Amino acid sequence: MESVVISLGGSIISTNGLNLKFMEEFVQTIKKLEKRCRFGIVVGGGSLARSYISALREYHVNDNILDEIGINATRMNALALSSFLPDSNSKIPSTVNDAAEFLRIYPFVVMGGTEPGHTTDTVATLLAERIGAKILINATSVDGVYTDDPKKSPNARKLPSLSYDEAISLALEKSIGAGPNVFMDLTALNIAKRAKIKLYVTDGKELTEYENIILRGKTSGTLIS
Ligand code: UTP
Repeated sequence: MESVVISLGGSIISTNGLNLKFMEEFVQTIKKLEKRCRFGIVVGGGSLARSYISALREYHVNDNILDEIGINATRMNALALSSFLPDSNSKIPSTVNDAAEFLRIYPFVVMGGTEPGHTTDTVATLLAERIGAKILINATSVDGVYTDDPKKSPNARKLPSLSYDEAISLALEKSIGAGPNVFMDLTALNIAKRAKIKLYVTDGKELTEYENIILRGKTSGTLIS
């Protein structure tokens, strides 16, 4: 059976608390696709991670510890989502390897972060590579990859498709110029390139996107391939 990985951005699952209505609707949406594929879902830290990390950063807490705190936040969000999702794991795996093992048992496996030094986007691409998934949906709060930050620049243009190398150049440019808001981190893009995983960057709250991507290969966001 085909495998799909979803990197569920923390910002769509947790903004000032958990977005429970979204979680309910998201679960209904992917349950409809259960016969078609199995799912690895990697959940981000959202406002929970951000509030702890930014407060502690003010007190010069070590970055490695901040990452550990972020990882714990992602795992809390993952556990919250799995409690909405029948036929998923109730123990959150702490490695990609364990998540891959869980996928032998459950049609849906939910996890958060793994180790300091990267984000859940990287975990999602590593999981996709490990289980041979050829589709990774990066469900974010922005509806695709733009030439510039659409919130700041009125001339920003959405790019319907990009090659891996074009995406890597753009992420590099953005990570130098505009702070941490890159559409996907560089490690994740490099892993996707080597494993030839199609990356769909799209608005995670737009529920029709999941079916359109998985069943028809179509997105209103951006395809990186
Ligand atoms: P996220 O994956 O949510 O980070 O993990 P992000 O992409 O910066 O956040 P959003 O999606 O834009 O809101 C939260 C934090 O947890 C740590 C990092 O500090 C990260 O910023 N983390 C997460 C790790 O260190 N390792 C992991 O595997 C995952």
